[in-house]
Amino acid sequence: MQVTPPFDLVIFGGNGDLAMRKLLPALYHRHRAGSLCDDGRILAVSRSEMDRATYLNLAREALVAHLGSHFNERDWEKFAQRLDFHRVDANAPGHYSGLAMVLGENTGRVRVFYLSTSPDLFMNICRNLGQAGLVTPESRVVLEKPLGRDLESARAINDAVGEVFEEHQIYRIDHYLGKEAVQNMMALRFGNSVFEPLWRRTWISHVQITVAEQLGVEGRGEFYNGVGAMRDMIQNHLLQLLCIVAMEPPANMDADAVRDEKLRILRSLRPLTGAEVATRSVRGQYRAGAVNGKAVSAFLDEPGIPSDSQTETFVALKAEITNWRWAGTPFYLRTGKRMPEGIAEIALYFRDMPMHLFPTVGGVPNRLVIRLQPDEGLRLDLMAKIPGDDMKLRPVGLNLSFAETFKQRPVQAYERLLGDVIHGRLALFMRRDEQEAAWMWVEPIMQAWVASGNSPKLYTAGTWGPAAATALISRDGFSWHEDY
Ligand code: BG6
Repeated sequence: MQVTPPFDLVIFGGNGDLAMRKLLPALYHRHRAGSLCDDGRILAVSRSEMDRATYLNLAREALVAHLGSHFNERDWEKFAQRLDFHRVDANAPGHYSGLAMVLGENTGRVRVFYLSTSPDLFMNICRNLGQAGLVTPESRVVLEKPLGRDLESARAINDAVGEVFEEHQIYRIDHYLGKEAVQNMMALRFGNSVFEPLWRRTWISHVQITVAEQLGVEGRGEFYNGVGAMRDMIQNHLLQLLCIVAMEPPANMDADAVRDEKLRILRSLRPLTGAEVATRSVRGQYRAGAVNGKAVSAFLDEPGIPSDSQTETFVALKAEITNWRWAGTPFYLRTGKRMPEGIAEIALYFRDMPMHLFPTVGGVPNRLVIRLQPDEGLRLDLMAKIPGDDMKLRPVGLNLSFAETFKQRPVQAYERLLGDVIHGRLALFMRRDEQEAAWMWVEPIMQAWVASGNSPKLYTAGTWGPAAATALISRDGFSWHEDY
């Protein structure tokens, strides 16, 4: 395992939800694995008034809560030595001189500014970092999603950040790209020859990408109400998954070689025109229902949500990639909160055979399902004979569980991505053009929703979304994969 160079990691929003739930646990795992250099400091900053001891208490509590049996006092004591807290009001230029003092003058040291704040603050933070002379050649900035609300605001943020940081210093994070399963998808596609000849329109009838959550808005009501599922999940996570499934093999695994191929896919997405939006997209919002046998309230009754909110908590889309490999093979995307299962998966459906020699019972003949969550795995559905005198076939699954095969704790997305930032590896981060191309595709859909004057279609919490989502796919003679 490669150990990082010496670094200072400054986390803006250092006492916020993401820092406590994901970043600190990820850093703790890296620390425990011995992959953080001893001379690596983590400096949480925020405008809250607190001293280091108070911050350490909060951090410890968060780690105990999120790490379970992986937490132990001995590792914590060493890890805590890396941690510090400093008060910085992101909008107050004067506060940055204090930060400069803490960081010191070693310009050869890796310096990471992780902006785990509202995107409204990104421009000011970067400007203030620049003016305080804190941006060295070895500096990097990490931008959490969503970057802006639309193409125009994303461009404005990118321009402002770009005045202070070079593109190669900007790490736009999409944590889905750090998931082990996404890495494995690259391995499956580009490390095996068996699927490549089949991986195209000739053999694949359609692809389904589903990211379903049982969770609701979980105390993030105010934030989520201004965002919705399209900006929160489709614009980034689902489109990135689509890119990885659909992209051409890159010439090598260099960051730009990979990102060039993903960009080509985003640019090949056929724009949905006004009238098509009604038949090729569905937006939904959950009403009260039950998930896992527990009653849950409606989105409109969640704290922080106005009673007339039009924000969508579910989106289903039919996307088409107009390139040589994929023209004519639809990609159906679907994501939602308060679904019956928490699953993320990609299912590739192979075309039917030219004729059927044998009677079959149930199911879809050939399908490859790549599971990202809750556990990582691969399943290839094949037709097999049912034992007995009759020659009758039914689908059976060849199942590969990564946990069982490798018997190792999978590396979490943020662990990998934080390591990559410190090492200066950009391949798993979005380049500006990719991100803007994604906005270019989703924005007209959102505009058409608003222009239609229609409200999101209601669905009962604990179901697979509005009936219109079933109609969207069944119109083409297919149905969603729901037999988990
Ligand atoms: C985040 C979204 O980016 O991804 C959340 O803001 C969502 O709304 C989360 O819950 C899902 O991530 P994961 O890794 O739990 O599937």
